[in-house]
Formats: sequence, structure tokens, C-alpha cells
Amino acid sequence: MAAILITGAHGQLGNELKVVSKNFYGYDYIFTDIDTLDLTNPKQTEDFIKRNRPDWIINCAAYNLVDKAESEPEAAMLVNGTAVKNIADVIKGSECRFIHISSDYVYDGLSNVPYNENSVPNPVSAYGRSKLAGEKYALLHHGSMIIRTSWLYSSFGNNFVKTILSHAREKESLKVVYDQVGTPTYAADLAGAIMKIVSGVIRNQFALNAGIYNYSNEGVCSWYDFAEEIIHLAGLACQVNPVLSKEYQTAAKRPAFSVMDKNKIKDNYGIQIPNWRTSLAKCMKLLK
Ligand SMILES: NC(=O)c1ccc[n+]([C@@H]2O[C@H](COP(=O)([O-])OP(=O)(O)OC[C@H]3O[C@@H](n4cnc5c(N)ncnc54)[C@H](OP(=O)(O)O)[C@@H]3O)[C@@H](O)[C@H]2O)c1
Repeated sequence: MAAILITGAHGQLGNELKVVSKNFYGYDYIFTDIDTLDLTNPKQTEDFIKRNRPDWIINCAAYNLVDKAESEPEAAMLVNGTAVKNIADVIKGSECRFIHISSDYVYDGLSNVPYNENSVPNPVSAYGRSKLAGEKYALLHHGSMIIRTSWLYSSFGNNFVKTILSHAREKESLKVVYDQVGTPTYAADLAGAIMKIVSGVIRNQFALNAGIYNYSNEGVCSWYDFAEEIIHLAGLACQVNPVLSKEYQTAAKRPAFSVMDKNKIKDNYGIQIPNWRTSLAKCMKLLK
């Protein structure tokens, strides 16, 4: 029975993998988070992996505080970079498959056409630089697949959807930036895509082609459009006012455009990706 280790399992994607894994039975799942496996500890990471001998590792652990990372870049690098090296060091040269999750924030946002996996990364924030470092460490192992995702949300954990809902319930109006354009990703969809790939490879439906892949929902929007749709679906009356990023200062710079081309993951693994509005509606039903 294939053993699948999922790290960072208390987070949004980790929790969605717990849900989705129930539809993919016959595997031995090991869910961990910092309380059971602190990936920044190389000895603990080595001991855990050697003891449990997973066939697959899906790394959902991360430091995701994009603004805070500007003042504590070492903390971001430790979880998003060094911890990934700790995993890669243990499995390097082995048959263990490694799926590591990265971010659209490795892109600089200067493009006006969707980024594909051959686009040269050029992060504009400490968080983005730490995620790019993690990719490079993951690729030290020959069996690594990196999935870059964007604007992740879920019914689990904290995210933009929940923040907008809570503000919209308390305020008459909100200001949201409209000059940052990308695509939201429902973590449940990403979890489903990951398990489709894992189970397809285990059942020899297709081979795992190591390397970098983009995954988000389909479609394009600004954070303003995203907020509008959340409030509309929730049936709230709060007015959303568009503002420019320069009028809404944050510690970290964010890419102005981070729409990703997903053809590689769709073509290689037959993944069908829902439109962001359809998936947001599904998540909102769970939140009601
Ligand atoms: N969230 C987004 O908008 C977004 C966008 C693009 C890409 N991504 C990427 O997508 C992946 C999944 O994100 P997510 O939103 O599901 O993350 P999340 O909800 O923040 O979950 C990450 C989990 O990792 C845990 N963790 C932190 N340090 C750890 C350590 N040293 N050892 C083991 N576990 C540790 C966290 O615990 P604590 O909560 O206790 O720290 C948390 O439970 C990440 O790689 C992330 O960078 C996320």
C-alpha cells in the first residue's frame, strides 16, 4: 500500500487533502504539522521520513505571512526554503515522489500575458524569494513536482474570502485594490488535482513528469472583483470601492499581474479546472 506523507496538514490545503483523501482510498495517509513534524528541524525530518518511508510527500507546510516576511525574511526562508532542503536532503536519489507547493509570487507581475512555467521568475517580495528558494531545493531531488498556485482560499483556515466576509458584515463600505490581477484558487480543487495526479501515477495511468507546473482556477480577476463576488454571493449590502495599490500601502510589494497559464498540468494529467466563480460559490455554500 503506497504511503503518502502530507506535511502542513493543519493548513488550508492540508485540510482539503484530508477531505479529498477519503475519495482516494487504499493508501496509507500520514498527516503531520509542526506539532508532529517540524520540517525546519533537519534531524527530526530525517528520522521521521526514514522511520515512515513514504512513497510520496506532499508538502503543504509554509510561512505565508507575505507582509510580515519583509521584516523577518529569515523566518520565511527557514520554512519556505531551508525546510524544503531538509526534505530533499533525505529523499535525494530515492524513489520517493515529492510534490511541493509554490506560489505565483515568484513572478514579478510585469507581464501582460499569462505566465507559463518557462517564464523567468523574479520575485518582488521576501516571501516570493523564499518560495523560489524552496523550489530550487525541491528540484535537488529528481522526482519532484512543484505546483505554483495563487490566491488560495478554503472553508478551512484564514484567507481573503473570510476577511472580506467579516469586514463586509461590519462595515458599509470597503476599499479593495483593482490594479492587482490574478486568479483565485479554491484549495479543494487543488487538493483534488493533486490526488488525481498521485493516484494516476500509482495506477500507471501516466508517469510523473518532474518539474514545475502552474495551477489556479480558470479565469481572471482583480482583488476588487473577487471581493465583489464574495459579497454578492453572501447577499451582503456592503459597497466595494476600487483603489489603486499605491493608495493601499502594504509592507510587501505584490505582482500587479500573476495570471498563470495552466496548459502544462491540464495536458500532462488530464486535469479539468473549474472557473473561479463556480468554485467560490461552492466554498461560500460551506461557509454559510
Ligand atoms: N495562502 C495563499 O494565498 C497561497 C498562495 C499561493 C501559494 N500558497 C502556497 O500553498 C501552500 C499551502 O498554503 P496554505 O494556505 O494551505 O498554508 P497554511 O494554511 O498557512 O498552512 C501551512 C501549514 O504549515 C504549517 N507549518 C508552518 N511551519 C511549519 C514547520 N516548520 N513544519 C511543519 N509545518 C509547518 C503551518 O502551521 P502554523 O499555522 O502553526 O504556522 C500551517 O498549518 C503553501 O506552500 C503556500 O505557500 C498559498
